[in-house]
Amino acid sequence: MEAEMAKIVEDYVDAHTDNVSILLEELIAETEKITGRSRWSIGKVEGKLLQMLIKFSNTRRVVEVGTFTGYSALVMAEALPKDGTLTTFENSPEFAEIALRYFEKSPYGQKIQLKLGPALQSLQAIPDEVKTLFLLMRINLLMVSTLTKQCESCVPVALFS
Ligand SMILES: C[S@@+](CC[C@H](N)C(=O)[O-])C[C@H]1O[C@@H](n2cnc3c(N)ncnc32)[C@H](O)[C@@H]1O
Repeated sequence: MEAEMAKIVEDYVDAHTDNVSILLEELIAETEKITGRSRWSIGKVEGKLLQMLIKFSNTRRVVEVGTFTGYSALVMAEALPKDGTLTTFENSPEFAEIALRYFEKSPYGQKIQLKLGPALQSLQAIPDEVKTLFLLMRINLLMVSTLTKQCESCVPVALFS
């Protein structure tokens, strides 16, 4: 019964959430074709939620752990102000290649910097001035504790997919 109710609410929210851009639809289609793992990307509802969080909190700087093929990065970049920036970490060159191609095609892609390699290592270089930190992968506790120590002013937001 609870599961049924959750499904009804989920379907309702989905039906009343605007569709994403054609470019993002293409990205998801290509992601599925090449990787068979488009389910790893956040959905349109989570995307809208992240955009709301960014706008309500006046965030200008986002750090993302786990780019995959760039869907969530592009969704968040769209919500950032013109001078906003997003740094995203990905350790798979195959996934990063797809993401970079779509960042090029998007009007919001210039706000994004992709760092290839293990996030934990790359994060050492992130200065403690990041206002909001979004963690969008199945994070481990070591990663959370390192990030929290690294950046006291960061606000971690974890979405488990
Ligand atoms: C669930 S996917 C991210 C989905 C993406 N945020 C989106 O919504 O489109 C997780 C990604 O994290 C990457 N990843 C896992 N461990 C990592 C690490 N230690 N450093 C960098 N990337 C990592 C994986 O290769 C994978 O592409």
